[in-house]
Amino acid sequence: MTNTTDTADTATADAGATKLDWEVTRNLVAKSPQERAEILANPGFGTHFTDHMIDICWSERGGWHRPRVQPYGPITLDPAAAVLHYGQEIFEGLKAYRHEDGSIWSFRPEANAARMQRSARRLALPELPSEYFLDALKQLIAVDGDWVPSAPETSLYLRPYMFAKEAFLGVRPAHKVAFYVIGSPAGAYFHGGIAPVSIWLSTNYARAGKGGTGAAKTGGNYASSLIAQAEATEQGCAQVMFLDSAEGKYLEELGGMNIVLVYKDGTLVTPQSESILEGITRDSVLQLARDRGHTVEQRRVTIDEWREGAASGDIVEVFACGTAAVVTPIAQLKAADFTIGSADAAAGEITMSLRTELTDIQYGRAEDRHGWLTRLSQ
Ligand code: PLP
Ligand code: COI
Repeated sequence: MTNTTDTADTATADAGATKLDWEVTRNLVAKSPQERAEILANPGFGTHFTDHMIDICWSERGGWHRPRVQPYGPITLDPAAAVLHYGQEIFEGLKAYRHEDGSIWSFRPEANAARMQRSARRLALPELPSEYFLDALKQLIAVDGDWVPSAPETSLYLRPYMFAKEAFLGVRPAHKVAFYVIGSPAGAYFHGGIAPVSIWLSTNYARAGKGGTGAAKTGGNYASSLIAQAEATEQGCAQVMFLDSAEGKYLEELGGMNIVLVYKDGTLVTPQSESILEGITRDSVLQLARDRGHTVEQRRVTIDEWREGAASGDIVEVFACGTAAVVTPIAQLKAADFTIGSADAAAGEITMSLRTELTDIQYGRAEDRHGWLTRLSQ
């Protein structure tokens, strides 16, 4: 499996990055401790935001400059800003976890920084040095650390993103770019918490194709998935599952997470494809499984293999994984002309124990034996 923390990836952008000199402007109308406590008591996902945001500018001439911590609020953009027309944008998603002693940690943030650099290369955006990426997260936590909730399985979802802000209607990589980080307190991504979900097999739409942007975390991939996700919702499913665009035969991934199949001999199988997002959660969960002695295979896997394996009893569990979804059991796959599993199927044992092991590391309840945690709070 590709090592998502490959340092060679970050070497070019990181060489010679000078230290950032942050300008900090405090939010004078920040939420009161009581307002914040009310939000943190029931954060949901992606609907509430902290009091501040991070902003670093980039220009072709000046490189990365003007790093700022500012009050959270609307961004002013020229109506001709390239992102609004051609979608030159990338983003990341990771979480800040509060440990029992109050300290705040993130999980493999250097892997997100490296992936953002890969996404930047694909979208012809500048690569943000990983040191700046990490520094930006720490700056946000320094002012908004109180927004990291402490209830079980809650966190502060961090959303770094970068877009073309140059006002220019010609089609070419923009010469002016902005990098931002916002924070959003988060509970479970799915309404049912960690209850097993049903997913819908999209056969009308593909998410990505050969040579496309499937492996990059760019808004366009999500925009193109929305119509298929709407079909899934109509079918009573929580997520959409995509197949390869060439043959409509091989499993790719869900709209916002990767997929893993568990075989009865304990083997874990996950799709190999150049057009899916290389999930950091998947990489981590598969490492934990390997540590336990499971065989892990990253290879092409067909929808027929899943159908037949589920029917014969060879495939015993299937789960989705990603930062937002953590590890979520999949009860059922619904397609236009067949169904695998059933909506009321129980969560698999291996799925749930991997979820527990992963979250125990993230929340500091178990030893971080792979050195995956980075402290964000002072
Ligand atoms: N695949 C897609 C399309 C995603 O949006 C995500 C979520 O970020 C993932 C996979 C899982 O990636 P990660 O585990 O790094 O969050
Ligand atoms: C994440 O898990 O970080 C994502 O970007 C997926 C999205 C469905 C929230």
